[in-house]
Amino acid sequence: MDVSGKTKVCAVIGDPVEHSLSPIIHNAAFQHLNLDYVYVAFNVRAYQLKDAILGVRGLGIYGLNVTMPHKISIIKYLDELDETAKRIGSVNTVLNKDGRLIGYTTDGVGAFNALKYAGSDPLGKKVVVLGAGGASRSICFTLAERVRELIILNRTLERAVNLANNIREVLGGKVNVRAASLVDENLRKELKDADILINATSVGMKPNDAYTPVKRDFLHRNLTVFDIVYNPLETRLLREAKLIGAKTIDGLSMLIHQGAVSFEIWTGVKAPIDVMREAALRKIEETEKENT
Ligand code: ATR
Repeated sequence: MDVSGKTKVCAVIGDPVEHSLSPIIHNAAFQHLNLDYVYVAFNVRAYQLKDAILGVRGLGIYGLNVTMPHKISIIKYLDELDETAKRIGSVNTVLNKDGRLIGYTTDGVGAFNALKYAGSDPLGKKVVVLGAGGASRSICFTLAERVRELIILNRTLERAVNLANNIREVLGGKVNVRAASLVDENLRKELKDADILINATSVGMKPNDAYTPVKRDFLHRNLTVFDIVYNPLETRLLREAKLIGAKTIDGLSMLIHQGAVSFEIWTGVKAPIDVMREAALRKIEETEKENT
């Protein structure tokens, strides 16, 4: 990597960020395209966020990715939000445009692009999303306008109902969104004629990787199953979906596609998706070797 006095610096800020794959995927992309950028990670505690943003301004850091726990709290320190970030109330990408910090959110469009890239365009489809947290919120807002029917199932019903109401308020009555509890009866009923299932809960993530949010019997082979959990890459949900012949999309695809949109915001250049994925896979393999 050739770092010079002109190199533009991008970074992810969050807590924790030690194991973030973002530096790996972005540096691989910058190098592949010979772009004079470098990407680093800064561990920023919640109480340090204000100082960190002053630092971004003072140092002229060019681009940021923002992860837990700052996606909402960063908004008050920015100069401008793009339309989608404003609607969703969450920021995962910042562009420093001549000293003005502009916030974007690429999580929802990342999920949408991951589906399209895998050949499962959600346009006009029935989509079931599990979870009503931050990740689900971005995905649901983006999909709501594009799908035929969106069902949000969550363990805490109130959160799902609030999210669905919020989507209707912001996007208007024309979107077809329903909310219900994440229980077997609803899963069975809703998945029967669904085209796409997205797990946006943390169920199945290590160390709880023996769990799945959906019983195998409720899956069918015409379903595309997308799990945003990427640790492990093949969750129990995806493994069982594969076994019955369903199409599967893993959490790394989500990470890469949301990263790709950030990359394009900073550089104006189309992101090399496959290069980014290969780099992440190599890193995951390396880490697994180290841990065994
Ligand atoms: P994120 O920003 O990653 O979405 P979050 O806001 O903490 O994180 O949301 C986590 C999601 O996983 C929520 O939908 C949560 O359900 P609740 O709203 O009921 O808490 C869901 N979740 C976490 N653990 C779960 C479990 N064991 N069973 C079912 N859902 C679970």
